[in-house]
Amino acid sequence: MTILVTGGTGTLGRDVVRALPEARVLSRSSGETRGDLLTGAGLADALAGVTVVVHCATTLGRKDVAATENLVAAARRAGSPHLVYISIVGVDRVPLPYYRAKLAVERLIEASGLPYTILRATQFHQLIAKLFDMQRLLLLYPSFSFQPVDTETVARRLAELAAGPAQGRVPDLGGPTVRTARDLAGQYLAATGKRAVRVPVRLPGKTFAAYRRGDHLAPDHADGKVEFAAYLADR
Ligand SMILES: NC(=O)c1ccc[n+]([C@@H]2O[C@H](COP(=O)([O-])OP(=O)(O)OC[C@H]3O[C@@H](n4cnc5c(N)ncnc54)[C@H](OP(=O)(O)O)[C@@H]3O)[C@@H](O)[C@H]2O)c1
Repeated sequence: MTILVTGGTGTLGRDVVRALPEARVLSRSSGETRGDLLTGAGLADALAGVTVVVHCATTLGRKDVAATENLVAAARRAGSPHLVYISIVGVDRVPLPYYRAKLAVERLIEASGLPYTILRATQFHQLIAKLFDMQRLLLLYPSFSFQPVDTETVARRLAELAAGPAQGRVPDLGGPTVRTARDLAGQYLAATGKRAVRVPVRLPGKTFAAYRRGDHLAPDHADGKVEFAAYLADR
């Protein structure tokens, strides 16, 4: 089995590469195996002889669709490897522009003719921590909950899926506990020793209504083992 990890230099991708140390990496900054999914540069070389692609690269926006179109076209030319894609819980329910792009990517992979597996995960611990890291004095938090998961657990699951047959959409993967953003902000302040006043933010609109309903959560798949507080203590 020859595996290519796109986005293997990213937050999740680095853990996927740790779980699959023999894998080839494709990103714009991955040294000799670098390539660009948007221009198509380096894709043919990166995919030569590959039997599984774990697709973790993201442009964090709408361009994910064009990037994945290029990946799929190059993969077809390279003998149609199994494509394992990481998506986000609720991409079909939360109308955030990035989620709409991820849903469009899921659809194009489903229609690609390639054997594929799609795993949706909840928010990573790093994302929630980053939300708080950016703030000072006031710690604004949204008035809804998260179920953050550690990227090692997600990476191990992707490695397991990469080793098996194509399964289509597989059950979602969530962190161990659904917690209010207020609680998570409290854990952040306790772990970092920062002093800031927590301030709830409630925004109008369909996106925030979907988050308030918990459309981005997967309480029935609380498979992660690492709590946000443990992640913070360890980072
Ligand atoms: N963050 C979350 O909470 C969360 C939750 C669930 C699922 N996910 C999904 O998990 C995946 C990984 O997220 P992440 O947070 O690890 O992302 P990240 O840290 O932003 O990493 C993105 C990766 O994509 C690569 N990349 C960007 N543009 C590229 C291009 N044009 N060509 C080739 N490579 C490119 C980057 O490397 P270079 O810059 O070197 O090119 C980097 O390795 C994404 O699909 C995301 O939607 C994220």
